[in-house]
Amino acid sequence: MPAKVAVITGASDGIGEQAAIKLKAAGWQLAAIGRNPERTEALGQALQTPWYIADFSSLQEVSALAVRLRHDWPRIDALINNAGGMFPRGKKTRDGHETTFQVNHLAHFLLTRLLMDRLLSSRASVINTSSMAHRPLGFLYRPGQPEKAFWGSTHLAYGNAKLANILFTRELHRRYHSQGLSAAAVHPGVVATSFSRNTLSPMRLLYDSALSRLPVVKTSAQGADTLVRLAQGTPGIDWVSGGYYSGFRQAVPSRMAKSDAAARALWKMSEKAVEGFL
Ligand SMILES: NC(=O)c1ccc[n+]([C@@H]2O[C@H](COP(=O)([O-])OP(=O)(O)OC[C@H]3O[C@@H](n4cnc5c(N)ncnc54)[C@H](OP(=O)(O)O)[C@@H]3O)[C@@H](O)[C@H]2O)c1
Repeated sequence: MPAKVAVITGASDGIGEQAAIKLKAAGWQLAAIGRNPERTEALGQALQTPWYIADFSSLQEVSALAVRLRHDWPRIDALINNAGGMFPRGKKTRDGHETTFQVNHLAHFLLTRLLMDRLLSSRASVINTSSMAHRPLGFLYRPGQPEKAFWGSTHLAYGNAKLANILFTRELHRRYHSQGLSAAAVHPGVVATSFSRNTLSPMRLLYDSALSRLPVVKTSAQGADTLVRLAQGTPGIDWVSGGYYSGFRQAVPSRMAKSDAAARALWKMSEKAVEGFL
């Protein structure tokens, strides 16, 4: 049987890098995507796998990435939308969107849409890295005008972007599961990575100090486990499409994350935001 193919964003560091290493060790072919050219190339060389550079704060770069992926990969079994994190408060991308929202959600929405026919023909799994932070911090989301809630605070921007990852998963499932695509959102745990390093958020202390050795904090390799197990598992047998997973168990997301109306509104709004690239 030919090796399965995974496309992984945020593969140059942290959880995504470890997911790439684990899937490669399990015999998968990989398209490893990062923003930092040196780190991404180092991973590509180490794993002997094609690597791609794209900054998701540019929708143009996401669009160009999709063209290259479509050219190079006739089949994609798993799309792991993992790149993301927290970005400084109120920073706009060159596309005019709040950066945390664009990098964590909009860029992945666009990438997924641009690969959609390939994902459907491959009966792919789309796995979106979300966070339990959507629960305490994702409450300001307003269907139809979600970006409004994002500008004031780094933390609210992050919580809302991670809420968007779950709503996107829900709507992907609703629209495409009957055509063969499956989708899941994942909270990887609290994982000692480079997360929030470039912000003033006190959260960075948890990841970037002796606190990262607390037993509740996972290593990047442990943080990658759920992504890898879902990619390797069979939807409908090992996991439920449309679900939100934490520690490989289906978890209950926030009330807003379970709203079909919010999921549809986010889809419509995201489609409008990227319409120049579809
Ligand atoms: N760490 C945690 O406790 C935790 C908890 C819940 C959810 N998460 C989520 O897990 C995912 C991975 O984060 P991590 O913890 O592994 O952090 P990380 O070590 O900082 O890795 C983040 C990855 O995202 C990429 N990235 C960041 N900004 C980007 C941009 N503008 N364009 C393209 N790629 C970009 C980075 O690329 P470069 O390195 O090449 O710049 C890197 O590969 C994120 O979605 C995060 O929200 C993390």
